[in-house]
Parts: sequence; structure tokens; C-alpha cells
Amino acid sequence: MKKRVIIDTDPGLDDAIAILFALGCGKFDVLGLTTVAGNIGLDRTTGNAGGLLAVMGRSDIPVIRGADIPLTRELQDLIAIVHGTDGLKGVPLPEPLATPLDNAPDWIARTLAAAEPGSIDILALGPLTNVAHVLTEHPELMDRIGEIIVMGGTINEPGNSGPNSEFNFATDPEAASVVIGSPAKVTIIPLDVTRKVRAQIDYVEALPDTQHGRLARELLTVYLQDGRQSRPLHDPCVMLASLEPSIFTVESLKLDVDLGDDPDAGRLLIDRRGKPVDVALGVDAERALALLRTGFV
Ligand code: RIB
Ligand code: CA
Repeated sequence: MKKRVIIDTDPGLDDAIAILFALGCGKFDVLGLTTVAGNIGLDRTTGNAGGLLAVMGRSDIPVIRGADIPLTRELQDLIAIVHGTDGLKGVPLPEPLATPLDNAPDWIARTLAAAEPGSIDILALGPLTNVAHVLTEHPELMDRIGEIIVMGGTINEPGNSGPNSEFNFATDPEAASVVIGSPAKVTIIPLDVTRKVRAQIDYVEALPDTQHGRLARELLTVYLQDGRQSRPLHDPCVMLASLEPSIFTVESLKLDVDLGDDPDAGRLLIDRRGKPVDVALGVDAERALALLRTGFV
């Protein structure tokens, strides 16, 4: 039985690997890619999502444009240094097979409304603006969601946005607070584990010689390009956690989100009054990389 999922994303190099894995592994029924501004602006994240579907020949899967700005804040400076000005550091993709749909939160709500309770998971790979809109504007649909698995935040690791804040949550702290505080089943995959699942050049070069394996090799090669020996596979960990939760060690933490205006806005705060949320704090990185590889055969 394939897992029915909506992937909310801001592709982005690691998003792209996560999406190619989800499409290639044959274990997900991907209902749609909803896009959000994050790594790069909404036009680019939407075009990149369409290009990834085109590579896989998946004209049956829609791309739906979502939020171009966070709930209440300005979009922070784009991290072009990591993902380049096109979001994929110049790796070419084919033109999308179809024009994207509009209004991702509305599309997600309609998709949930037509679904059985608990039958759709949301795999969130970028800032949580779209997901927060759905949970706020359609609370009656919460029970249709099985779980929301989110790449974001950091507990004990240094931040990659502020000193203690992670990029997805720092981009839209209010959205992260809505999702974490919602009654939905939420699992957070933070930097504490994603930084342990790393692509090294030998792993990249050994990826299968399939069309999407070769594309993944190209994407990971440019992701490594600034001379580092390895790079963290943040977003693919969400798909891996969905398929094989036992790869991760999860703890229930009562969390809140720093909504201040300092550089650490979006920081996760362990708060006795917060709602308990499952947070992955350990990972079997070898198993994770081995499972990831199976998506490219
Ligand atoms: O902090 C890592 C996250 O920020 C990943 O989702 C990456 O794609 C960027 O969006
Ligand atoms: Ca992302």
C-alpha cells in the first residue's frame, strides 16, 4: 500500500533529492507538490518542482503554487550561496509538463476534504507557511491528516540561520508555531539528525546509473561543489522517516517557537507549557543512506 502524501517544498537542492527519491522509490502515492518561497523565490521553487516532475515523466502529479511570503514577516535574504540563484546551482531541468495550479492551501484543503480520516501525510520540506494556512483556515480537516513530518528546527545543534535557529523555521516562525502547536500529529526532523545523514563524493559517484540517479549525482555534485567533503541531506530525511521511522530515534518534547525579532527568531524553545511533539534526535545514518540509494535504482 503506497503512502498517500502531499509534498510541500522550496526546491532547493536537497528538496530535489527528496522529491526524486519519493518519485523513484515506488512507495509513495504523491498527490501533489505544493510550493513555497524559501531557498529561492516562489516562481523558481515552482518551476523547479515542475521540472523535477518532468524528468520523471509525471504529468499526472500537479504542482500548486503556495505562499510567496511568510505569514507575517518579510522573506529573508535568499541563501543563494547554497542553492544558487536558480535554486539548483545551475543544474538544468526540462520545462514543466503543465502550468502550475494556484492557491496551495486551498488545494490541500480540497484534497483533504475528499480523503478518508488519517489517510494523507504532509511531508514538509520548506518554510511552513502553506501548512499553517491549512491548519488555521480549515481546522475541521485536521483529522484527514495522518501525520505531518517536518524538516526544521534544531535542538542541540547550532543553527544555520541564526545562532540557534534553523532556516525553515527562521523564515516563518509564526507558521512553525502554528504547526507545532496544532492538534495534528507532527514529527520534527531537525538539524540534529539531518546533519548526520551526509552525502560524500564516493556515495554520490556510486549512485545508480539511471536517469534520475544521474540527475541526483549532478545535483549532489554541485551541492558539494564548494569543496566540502560532504553535505547534509536535510530534506530527504523526511521521506526516509516516513518510510522507515525506526531509522530515527524520536523523543517527545514540549516545544514552543521563539517569535521575537532577534536573529534567533524561529528558534525552538523547550517549554513545559508547550504541546508534546515527536522530535528525531538520533539516526542510523548508514541505514538512512542505504535506503535513500534504493530510490534511484
Ligand atoms: O535548514 C535546512 C532546510 O532549509 C532545508 O529544507 C533546505 O532545503 C532549506 O530549505
Ligand atoms: Ca527545503
